[in-house]
Amino acid sequence: MNTPTNGFLRLKRLVPAPLKRRAKEALLSRTFRRAVAEIDSLTLGEVPPREVLERLQLGWGNEGFAAQIEYLEEVARRAATTAGPILECGSGLTTILMGLLAGRRGVATWSLEHIPDWSARVVQSLKQFKVPHAQVRHALLRDYEGFSWYDAPLTELPMEFQLVICDGPPGATRGGRYGLLPVLGARLPAGSVILLDDATRLGEAEVLRRWVTEAGMDVAMHEGRDGSFAVITRN
Ligand SMILES: C[S@@+](CC[C@H](N)C(=O)[O-])C[C@H]1O[C@@H](n2cnc3c(N)ncnc32)[C@H](O)[C@@H]1O
Repeated sequence: MNTPTNGFLRLKRLVPAPLKRRAKEALLSRTFRRAVAEIDSLTLGEVPPREVLERLQLGWGNEGFAAQIEYLEEVARRAATTAGPILECGSGLTTILMGLLAGRRGVATWSLEHIPDWSARVVQSLKQFKVPHAQVRHALLRDYEGFSWYDAPLTELPMEFQLVICDGPPGATRGGRYGLLPVLGARLPAGSVILLDDATRLGEAEVLRRWVTEAGMDVAMHEGRDGSFAVITRN
């Protein structure tokens, strides 16, 4: 029988795959643009509702790598209010979000990224949406004594950070995310906060254990439906 549903399915099968892909990309791109515009129109210090963050995440589309919604919400809450510079380890959707929320208040985000093509994509997006005060620094991963971490441009970076978004380098890196403390720990004053994503994963849990034994830190764990993160305050 020739029902409207059958007709639609036949039509869908007839549309060439590249055309379908382009239509999907255009839809995601519009979703992202609209969510960015909504966040951009918030009053300074206001935190975007979860529903807007969900659309932002959907439109960005880097599934499997981009921050999960609860971590994104925590990043947004902190970026909307933090008083000092932000360090980000591993760039992406969070870089754009922090630029929109902190950058508009004149608070700078410094992001370290080891993949050149990825850093170019994030920079292009920052430019497209005229996101202020967000810098992405391409920093290769290099060997330190006992671990690998970003070759951070120490002379360019601020002497103090109030907030760290710790979502890189990738887990396969020797020592994982551990390098933050030995390389830049001296720039994290008392009261500064580190948001460690995936904090219950084996590698990240070990990093957290080492940090806590080596420096004074208070840790609050957040375990949700789609992942975990830790809010770590230096004391
Ligand atoms: C977990 S991601 C960082 C995500 C970022 N906080 C966000 O919300 O988008 C950590 C690192 O993975 C790498 N990465 C991101 N997207 C990738 C992709 N599609 N393929 C391969 N590596 C990717 C980048 O080097 C990035 O710094």
